[in-house]
Amino acid sequence: MAVEMTRAGATIVLRLSNGPVNALSVGNGFVEELGAKVGEAASDPACRAIVIAGAGRMFCGGADIGDFDGDPEQVDRLRHLIATVEACAKPVIMAIHGMALGGGLELAMAGHYRVAQAGSRLGLPEVTLGLLPGAGGTQRLPRLIGAGAALDMMLSGKPVTAERALSAGLVDQLVDGDVVEAALEVARNVPPLRRSGTLPVPADLAGAVASRRAKLRAGLSQAPARIVDCVAALSGDLAAGLALEAALFGELLRSEASRGLRHVFFGERTVARIPGLAPDVRPRDVGHVGVVGGGLMGTGIALALLNAGLPVTMAELRPEALAKAEATICKTIQRDVEKGRIGQDVADARIAAFTAATELEALADADLVIEAVFEDMGVKKQVFSALDAIARPDGILASNTSTLDLDAIAALVADPSRVVGLHFFSPANIMRLLEVVRGRETAPDVLATAMALGKRIGKVGVVSGVCDGFIGNRMFEEYLRQVWFLLEEGALPQQIDAAMERWGMAMGPCRTMDLAGQDIGWAIRKRRMAEQPDRPYSGVIDRICELGRFGQKTGKGIYAYPDGRTAETDPEITRLIEDYSAETGLERRAFSDEEIVGRCLLALVNEGARIVEEGIAYRPVDVDMIYIHGYGFGRERGGPMFQADIMGLSTVLDRLRALAAGRNGWAWTPAPLIERLAAEGGRFGDLNIQDRNSI
Ligand code: 3HC
Repeated sequence: MAVEMTRAGATIVLRLSNGPVNALSVGNGFVEELGAKVGEAASDPACRAIVIAGAGRMFCGGADIGDFDGDPEQVDRLRHLIATVEACAKPVIMAIHGMALGGGLELAMAGHYRVAQAGSRLGLPEVTLGLLPGAGGTQRLPRLIGAGAALDMMLSGKPVTAERALSAGLVDQLVDGDVVEAALEVARNVPPLRRSGTLPVPADLAGAVASRRAKLRAGLSQAPARIVDCVAALSGDLAAGLALEAALFGELLRSEASRGLRHVFFGERTVARIPGLAPDVRPRDVGHVGVVGGGLMGTGIALALLNAGLPVTMAELRPEALAKAEATICKTIQRDVEKGRIGQDVADARIAAFTAATELEALADADLVIEAVFEDMGVKKQVFSALDAIARPDGILASNTSTLDLDAIAALVADPSRVVGLHFFSPANIMRLLEVVRGRETAPDVLATAMALGKRIGKVGVVSGVCDGFIGNRMFEEYLRQVWFLLEEGALPQQIDAAMERWGMAMGPCRTMDLAGQDIGWAIRKRRMAEQPDRPYSGVIDRICELGRFGQKTGKGIYAYPDGRTAETDPEITRLIEDYSAETGLERRAFSDEEIVGRCLLALVNEGARIVEEGIAYRPVDVDMIYIHGYGFGRERGGPMFQADIMGLSTVLDRLRALAAGRNGWAWTPAPLIERLAAEGGRFGDLNIQDRNSI
């Protein structure tokens, strides 16, 4: 039974029971059933009031986002339900616990009285999906709490606490105990039929709309602007406002930005599922983590763990490096207090949970040890051999390697099934991506533990198989290869960066490498030139490195950094690039931004397809999540594989073939997976099967 109907005296209680979040699904008939039961209660002569509550963890997580890919008109059914509730001649009391989000809050606002349990949260997060509240939210929320407060809630998408909702006027009563009991008490007194849709237009409307409109920023998603438009249209004519809201919602639903953001919403959840993992595999308990190495990575990793409440012991053999790491950890935690993010008591607890040690033996009791030492196979091997003897036999040994062969590292351990890769991205306490590397021998429960740990510390964990560079860096190499070719063929760094940033990357590739350190890329290229002489790079970037211009850290890289931080175009580099083209006999030509973006994107897509085909990534969406969370790929763009689907794989194939016929065509041989899917009329999205054997 999706809507449970019970009686308590003259009140009928309708309890939403639809899966984990009580989503208002149209596809499975849930909305229809709720509407029918509201109708039944309304026409029942013995019923004087109706209480609507949620079963399980929450009141309601909103409209069913999965419905949106079907018939967009389905939202009309939800609108109809909401209108029925508001128009009901008997008081409808909403009993809110846990969460009331999106369509769930819109349903609650259509009720005549709202009781919320302390600690619950209420919000309209549609903007985070590139949408606007499309079931009356833009028209009812401002009437209830004022236009300024409503716009702030809808434009940020952030939920407010029940306490704040009470003071704002969004809820009528706050209770500590059983919210349904409290709602029944309200029902017994039969409250007046206060319909939020009929409340007057708020007095702050004009000023609030003007100020929020002035703050709108250009972006791919039009949702913020359309939210302001809907609120601006508030008038005595509710029906007209609702009609505009419905029309603009439909437009947004079809937009690329919303499709991309919805892909990311489901993608973030899909990547947590490990295909083939037996349903009885359970993550191990992790109560104490060891970190080996007190450099930048080790410090960031320790912070990420401490911030999630995990006790950490750091082993760093050099006392001065250890002292520096400890000081950074304390300073960063204390800064969170200064910024009002945490209280002093929480900071003190986090700092107390940190233990510094100069010998590996201090990690003997750790449930999991994360090695974050210098990226050199010799050094890693030493550490793992030592850890094998010191760590508990059932302790998990993880490596933070970003490029080295995890299977070779695991081979040094008597039981390689306890070895897994945990590739954090710098700064590890901030970046959300965690590449979880599955070695040949990694035990299923070790993999499950690594994923569970990632979730616990707020990361998006994505599993990668073992290959050089794993998923993210292996693709990034092909992306950069094209960037350097573009430089020698006629584009300039500032144009490439501006084109990519305008398109949706958080940072263009030239600035990214200046920030990461050009010396790191140079070392990788040298290694690759020896390993893969048939896949050369443009020498133009090496020329820049030969000048000792390693990026921000040396004050100069592809750009100059006069103040140490801000990238400025350097005429010396423009000259160097132009001279390089002339010396190598290349006639420079103009590139459009579109061509630059297309080439960089196709390089990612082609390598991404190989990675999926080789089984290094489980699904194309795993590749997308890595790019969104680790490489600054715009969320609204959904990820490279999603973009390829938008383009259509036969178009992708045509473009790859055209590039393959041109200069450096060897780099563009289409991945067989693209050829196959294009021939079948398929999409990468078809491969994003959700394996229900979730951890
Ligand atoms: N529609 C469909 N499925 C949803 C959903 C929704 N609104 N909200 C959550 N789910 C699914 C998730 O995909 C996940 O499915 P899975 O187990 O198969 O992977 C499952 O419910 C549990 O979700 P989470 O793992 O996210 O659970 P949490 O407890 O961590 O978080 C939550 C709960 C805070 C409700 C979070 O799921 C969330 O933020 N959901 C989306 C809320 C939202 O954006 N609502 C607005 C929808 S749009 C709308 O209402 C339009 C309207 O204005 C017309």
